[in-house]
Amino acid sequence: MKEFAVGFFWYSPLLVLLFFVSHRLLFLARRKSKEQLNLPPGSSNEGWPFIGKTFDFIKPHPSTTIGEFMKDRLQRYGKIYRSHLFGAPAIVSADPDMNRFVLQNEGKLFEANYPKTMGDVLGKWAMLLVNGDMHKTLRSIAVNSTNPVRIRSHILSDLDFHVQKLLKDLPINSPFSASEMAKKITFNVMASQVLSMDPDEPDNKWLRKEYMDFMRGLCSSFPVNLPGTVYGKAVKCRQNILKFMLKKMNERRKIGKEYDDFLGMVVLQTNLSEEQKLDLLLSMLFAGFETTSTAISLVVFFLEACPKAVSQLREEHLGIVRKKQHAGDSPDLQWNDYKEMEFTQCVINETLRLGNVVSYVHRKALQDITYKGFFIPSGYTILPVFSAIHLNPDYYKDPEKFDPWRWLQIKKPGDKFLPFCGGPRLCAGIDLAKVEMSIFIHHLVLKYQWELAEPDIPISYPFIEFHKELPIKVRPYHCMEDNNDHVSNVKSLPN
Ligand code: HEM
Ligand SMILES: *[C@@H]1O[C@H](CO)[C@@H](O)[C@H](O)[C@H]1NC(C)=O
Ligand SMILES: *[C@@H]1O[C@H](CO)[C@@H](O)[C@H](O)[C@H]1NC(C)=O
Ligand SMILES: *[C@@H]1O[C@H](CO)[C@@H](O)[C@H](O)[C@H]1NC(C)=O
Repeated sequence: MKEFAVGFFWYSPLLVLLFFVSHRLLFLARRKSKEQLNLPPGSSNEGWPFIGKTFDFIKPHPSTTIGEFMKDRLQRYGKIYRSHLFGAPAIVSADPDMNRFVLQNEGKLFEANYPKTMGDVLGKWAMLLVNGDMHKTLRSIAVNSTNPVRIRSHILSDLDFHVQKLLKDLPINSPFSASEMAKKITFNVMASQVLSMDPDEPDNKWLRKEYMDFMRGLCSSFPVNLPGTVYGKAVKCRQNILKFMLKKMNERRKIGKEYDDFLGMVVLQTNLSEEQKLDLLLSMLFAGFETTSTAISLVVFFLEACPKAVSQLREEHLGIVRKKQHAGDSPDLQWNDYKEMEFTQCVINETLRLGNVVSYVHRKALQDITYKGFFIPSGYTILPVFSAIHLNPDYYKDPEKFDPWRWLQIKKPGDKFLPFCGGPRLCAGIDLAKVEMSIFIHHLVLKYQWELAEPDIPISYPFIEFHKELPIKVRPYHCMEDNNDHVSNVKSLPN
């Protein structure tokens, strides 16, 4: 027995070596056959072990550009290439057809696949992280709570209230952060819609602070749950926010009154566990807050440099106000007014195209697939990149230019414009986001003229922050008195 053991130990390095050699040979053979199957160009072994080229891929760059890594790879390999990203071999696609194919086949050939570490912060039942039937169930609740019918009946007047409240008394002629303002607006909207929270409640400020730290940690490039890290802080914030939501939920159960907010709707879902309900509420707050505030900041930023668009917006919105006055209607915006905001919709589309609030999404191949002659192995990470399509001169002439008028010609952008993703995971808040942006534009252009207090630029981290938090100075715009003068004044400014 002893001899056997000694013998075994003596031989074991040889066995290990043999094992590795054969494994390697098998691997090479497998790789060879896969290579014959024509993988997309590039290398899935490049960069550091595990990390690969992730840091090059997410390296901060202006969100109105595609960044150095993307630019280099597109030039070298074309619109579909291979790399090693987020811990796995990856295929990056800047091809509208391929992106459509990937997004439409969600749940069949591909599925959402966000970094696992996000689960500690977002929760394991977060919308972004669940798949299959659970995703369908949660999604139907999310869509149900923000669909156009509900926007009309419950959300519109609330949006208007929160936008006006924050735009009412901005400091005149003294610089302030427009991105901070945008964050307050969209946070108040979501806190009100999700939890019926009043912006003046003391808890509102506390929750917003917790939420900002939560977001910061979620987007951290060092996602390790250790004390002192932003990520560790975010995990803590998650617990604080959930505790707060649970308290609200229990209060309501005690009172027995039904509330017309997302919390009220979610509580009624008898199918879901308490944990699932809380994660869903957190997901809604998360999905609706940062994205829309970024979009609103981008509107302020792009319009500041395009006075011609501002004056055309004023004409459009004054037209709506005058028509209401003429008909003796209330000045509040109604759902039908949006149909008359064609140019406003052009501005919104152009802002989302050039600003790229969400520049790519994370997917995974569920099986071996061949598409456009390229072999996509099962398990590969797939990254459909929208920004590289939005900024491609083949699809948009002078793509780096903010030109809302281009949308008067485009009409049906199809797969070349996917700011809200597509397929079964199309953003659930698309109408809410557009209405919120429209209401913001309405009040902004009719109340104020504005300019940047300092040059600034939106940076993709890949979540977007303005380098200096977008400092602006505003002056009142007296549209209702001698508006014609002002409109022509603005018109004669150099563009
Ligand atoms: C301009 C603002 C917004 C942009 C650019 C945006 C963009 C997106 C994108 C690209 C996705 C897809 C993520 C993926 O497929 O992996 C998404 C999903 C989602 N968005 Fe938005 N969004 C915005 C505003 C909102 C708002 C206001 C809400 C309201 C609650 C919202 C709720 C959601 C939800 C619940 C999902 C998950 C959908 C699913 O997985 O089925 N979003 N959004
Ligand atoms: C609740 O669950 C049952 C079975 O699991 C399912 O048939 C039903 O559609 C679910 N209801 C909702 C609202 O998701
Ligand atoms: C959708 O909302 C309505 C009320 O607004 C509710 O009666 C219905 O049960 C909801 N459906 C789901 C699947 O949550
Ligand atoms: C804006 O983009 C959407 C697609 O997201 C498109 O359906 C719509 O027609 C565009 N609006 C304008 C005014 O071009």
